[in-house]
Amino acid sequence: MHEAFDCPRAPQDVFQYIVDFSRITEWDHTILSAVKTTSGKIAVGTAFDLKYSMGLRKVPIRYEVMEFEPPQRAVLKGVSRGFTAIDTVTITETSNGCHVDWRAELEFRGASAKIVPLIERRITAAGVQTIKDLAKALRDDAPTPKLSPLQRVADKLIVPGVLGFSRFGHQHAEKHWQPVTASMRDKHVVLTGATSGLGLATAHELAQRGAKLTLIARDAVKADRVAKEITAQTGNEQIEVRIADLSEIAQVVELGKTLLKKGEPIDVLINNAGALFNPRRETSERIEASFALLLLSPFVLTEQLFPLLKQASSSRVINVSSGGMYGTKINLKNLESERGQYRGADAYARAKRGLVIMGERWAERWADEGIKVHNMHPGWAQTPGVEESLPQFAKLTRRILRSPEEGADTIVWLANATEANNTSGLFWLDRAPHTTHLSRRTVEKPSERDALEDLLREYRSRLI
Ligand SMILES: NC(=O)c1ccc[n+]([C@@H]2O[C@H](COP(=O)([O-])OP(=O)(O)OC[C@H]3O[C@@H](n4cnc5c(N)ncnc54)[C@H](OP(=O)(O)O)[C@@H]3O)[C@@H](O)[C@H]2O)c1
Repeated sequence: MHEAFDCPRAPQDVFQYIVDFSRITEWDHTILSAVKTTSGKIAVGTAFDLKYSMGLRKVPIRYEVMEFEPPQRAVLKGVSRGFTAIDTVTITETSNGCHVDWRAELEFRGASAKIVPLIERRITAAGVQTIKDLAKALRDDAPTPKLSPLQRVADKLIVPGVLGFSRFGHQHAEKHWQPVTASMRDKHVVLTGATSGLGLATAHELAQRGAKLTLIARDAVKADRVAKEITAQTGNEQIEVRIADLSEIAQVVELGKTLLKKGEPIDVLINNAGALFNPRRETSERIEASFALLLLSPFVLTEQLFPLLKQASSSRVINVSSGGMYGTKINLKNLESERGQYRGADAYARAKRGLVIMGERWAERWADEGIKVHNMHPGWAQTPGVEESLPQFAKLTRRILRSPEEGADTIVWLANATEANNTSGLFWLDRAPHTTHLSRRTVEKPSERDALEDLLREYRSRLI
């Protein structure tokens, strides 16, 4: 098979996307799964394990990079029981992008060789279609997802809503996803809570895609270990660690000052660090911990980093909230959960609700500044945080929880996908916008939104 197409993209970006066969399922619909099985940067010797769909059978193929000359040429060899494939990709720069040339040579053995004459035309047609799909993916013009009236209703129904949070929701949603081919190469991402769970999965995936990471963590030893592991697995050496306990506002401010002093524009800020506290506790600054970590801290950090977000040509803020906020309304008289009986889940939900309100306000305020703001919730994912703070829930739901990678998928998508940044201020789950309220009971008044921001500013000025 020999196919070719022109692509209005930089050769480096096209090369990087194509040779990373761990993402081949995005454009080759005959491949059911793909993982990179060797560590380090993609280079000669990098291997990928793929599963190819052949009727009802899943056929394993092991691909290995045989030649690697970025960004012009790569040769990959795939070996399966019945055949060997040699794929040669050649990319040449053109006046408005590049020209991609793809040659695939297939050699069949044993029983497969006998049936080839019968299915040869089908194999060729599938190959041609695959390269067409690759060309389409590289056009990077996927439609912008919208909140449909049907989704609005479905969100409010308990069974589909709850199923949507589980791994089944992820599996159902992913059938409709578009490839993400925009480049993350050298994009500066500041990520909180990268030492565990969803943050760790996000850091790993963004490092694999070539981003430059600043990881914010409270535990220096753990953070250094994580950074080294990610570098070893992905070959990405552009990972820096900054230490701050994000529930301590003085430390958040110091962190902000350090980043401002360094002056590196921020393409993506991900407010992900989180925890659920039982029983109630206060920080050394005498602030209730859920409010401090989940709302006041991202508020202070995001506003402080505004100049660096503005300096990047098109930046994104991603707030990791929670579906837990659906059941609650912001309570300005009880931001620190001092009234009534304390329940960690309620304090957590209120703070997450507050963060979503702030995300919507930043989206409006920064609409002309080139900064987009995305609120999201990851569904229910099996992470150390969930195991520790909700052991009963984790035990009961073990079979339906998502993996950390599935929970992190929408964070990575919001950081990377071109179409995500055609929007701002929406609330996302599984790459689709969702409603922020399931009942009128939880909707705050405009005056309450203003008052929330005033209160957060008051806290900030009292503390620094
Ligand atoms: N997993 C889910 O099902 C789920 C559902 C809805 C929302 N979320 C949200 O997703 C985010 C990630 O949660 P996860 O499940 O991945 O939890 P996780 O495994 O416990 O990870 C939480 C991360 O936040 C960091 N962190 C916690 N307190 C911190 C502090 N005071 N200062 C600095 N960093 C701190 C942790 O650092 P250490 O490693 O040092 O502990 C860790 O890196 C959270 O905002 C959570 O509320 C998760």
